[in-house]
Amino acid sequence: MDSILVTGNGPLNGKIPIAGAKNACLALMPVTLLTDQPVTLTNAPILSDIKTAEALLSSLGTEVSFLNGGKVLVMSSHNLKSSHADYDIVRKMRASNLVLGPLLARTGEAVVSLPGGCAIGARPMDLHIGALEALGATIELKEGYLHAKSNGRLKAGTFEMRMASVGATENFIMAAALANGTSVLKNAAKEPEIVDLVKCLRSMGAQITGEGSSTVEIQGVDTLGGTTHPVVVDRIELGTYMIAPAMAGGQVDLIGGKKNLLGQFWNSLERSGLEISETADGIRAKRVNEIIKAVDVKTEVYPGFATDLQAQFMALMCLADGTSFLEETLFENRFMHAPELIRMGAKIDVQGGIAKVQGVSKLKAAPVMATDLRASVSLILAGLAAEGETKVARVYHLDRGYENLVSKLSNVGAKIERISDNV
Ligand code: EPZ
Repeated sequence: MDSILVTGNGPLNGKIPIAGAKNACLALMPVTLLTDQPVTLTNAPILSDIKTAEALLSSLGTEVSFLNGGKVLVMSSHNLKSSHADYDIVRKMRASNLVLGPLLARTGEAVVSLPGGCAIGARPMDLHIGALEALGATIELKEGYLHAKSNGRLKAGTFEMRMASVGATENFIMAAALANGTSVLKNAAKEPEIVDLVKCLRSMGAQITGEGSSTVEIQGVDTLGGTTHPVVVDRIELGTYMIAPAMAGGQVDLIGGKKNLLGQFWNSLERSGLEISETADGIRAKRVNEIIKAVDVKTEVYPGFATDLQAQFMALMCLADGTSFLEETLFENRFMHAPELIRMGAKIDVQGGIAKVQGVSKLKAAPVMATDLRASVSLILAGLAAEGETKVARVYHLDRGYENLVSKLSNVGAKIERISDNV
């Protein structure tokens, strides 16, 4: 297993290109199952999760080619051979559950393993099940697998979600796109990745309105055509790298970044004292104040403060002048970065879903352990500001969601390298 060594090395300076969004690409790849025509995704991120999604689609019979070093995916599902998404793949990546809706809509059946728990929470599937049952599917749980069937073509229906689940919204929209009639999803998630999915489906001939709002209406069509679609830029990678100069000092231009993807995060980061502005080619983040102000944060569905940026913001609050409270409302166990940050000298007290962070004047390097994707990168951010060399172990978590992290950060002056622990 590899580790990353990062040494506090003073202010950063330069440009970081922001890749296509992992969470958009993982929702866009299953759309190939909805058509027998080729679907091409451009601006795809080069990540291990994309490879996992490719393995899953290939196991179903989809032909997937990676072009342009992996930035372009060409997929064709003209010859599906299975509707069975195996546990071995699904357990590695919960987003595998996004084949459920498309498979059901295209083939009338889907057998998809329950993803099982993950580090950050139990992550049930009840909203996905309810959403697809509202479209006429029957779904049974047998030996850890969801067995979904539709008696002929899916029938349009209306479903109101008890909470705005991103994945359940995506599964409903993809399935309803081919259902018979007009379906309505209430309390739909509004994340930019859903807006991007609908843009792609619309370019294939889908009739959908209301994306980005809490009510989405889908008028089912008989067939969908192929398309070429650019993956929207990754708002979580963007937010992560905006925090880097806030921690280490200096100025970084995030190429391709867009303010309208960031919701409440922009306001919270601005309130911490970082100077952030839109530029012709993205977003500029500049440390102008010696002091980092303490800012309270509560994670919420979009456009609230993104849960996927909570760990990174906590790393910043560890160096704030004062005490901040970070409330995690989306997941039940998403503070695993806290004990690792404490090893670096942070003062954090976690009580249930609230972390109280008392800022300290400096962090000190320590050997730390990555536990999940976003927790891992919060440790890298802390290492950028810490005195000495921090070793972050188990960085395979990072490879799931951060393309070329070491080169992107070293290109703006960070002292960072990847080593193999198998020496
Ligand atoms: C997506 O996961 C993202 N993943 C997550 O990003 C992100 O944290 C999450 O949305 C919230 O924004 C992808 O898009 C691939 P949810 P998803 O369904 O769709 C509960 C990352 O770091 N829930 O919106 O699985 C669930 O337990 C990852 O990139 C149910 O109760 O999230 C959670 O508490 C991590 N029943 C909450 O809803 C269900 O049927 C939000 O989950 C489904 C979800």
